[in-house]
Amino acid sequence: MTPTDGPLHVAIIMDGNGRWAKQRGLPRTFGHREGVKALKRTVEAAPDLGVETLTVFGFSTENWRRPMAEVAELMGLLKAYVESDLDRLIREGVRVRVIGRRTGLKPDILEIIDRAETRTAGNSRFLLQVAFNYGGRADITDAARRFAEQVEQGRAKASDLDEALFETMLSTVGAPDPDLIVRTSGERRISNFLPWECAYAELVFQDVFWPDYGPDHLGAAIAEFRARERRFGGASSDDVLAAG
Ligand code: FPP
Repeated sequence: MTPTDGPLHVAIIMDGNGRWAKQRGLPRTFGHREGVKALKRTVEAAPDLGVETLTVFGFSTENWRRPMAEVAELMGLLKAYVESDLDRLIREGVRVRVIGRRTGLKPDILEIIDRAETRTAGNSRFLLQVAFNYGGRADITDAARRFAEQVEQGRAKASDLDEALFETMLSTVGAPDPDLIVRTSGERRISNFLPWECAYAELVFQDVFWPDYGPDHLGAAIAEFRARERRFGGASSDDVLAAG
């Protein structure tokens, strides 16, 4: 049995902002704003729950299909989050990394991402990865293109490629794979979130809309994770003992 008590990488699909707002007769953007508050609560609580890496899905490559005003709101919220919290994140030893495609993002958003990454680059206590303009298939495709370019330029051979090398081409390079993927709001899908990285992750689905999320929910998800046995394709420890 693989121990489940070490430092964790938890990845969260923060779903249900729109439904939370609709239930209250409010515009969807209100749900996203409350969602940022939930994100702050969750980031703050995570280290004490044994989490060392937290990855959150802030904006997917598919989210461009939403009404322009909602897209603008989500962009603005990323900016506002960094502007209001960057100093605190730096003080608390949090390294921020934004994963996803940079193409299509406006200069002010690129500038804020760059500022957050540069100013926290020296931190190592906690890694906060924000998936923004992120899609798992897009990330894998970009990685394949990067490798193909190296082959074209004569810097690599096709036979060099193995899983370890391929991983260095992904935007998550250097981060551990997620141990636990959480999705809120009762939906039970992965939705193109970290498809390569979550190959062996445990999945926990919680029936709470993201704006209502907080430390207790994260604690419950982690408790469920810790009660599970992870085998990574091997046999359970009981079976190994029984087999002598
Ligand atoms: C899903 O809810 C949530 C999102 C598409 C965005 C998540 C964003 C935040 C929590 C706030 C912004 C944070 C950052 C880092 C930018 P939904 O709108 O799909 O809800 P629904 O399924 O109920 O409609």
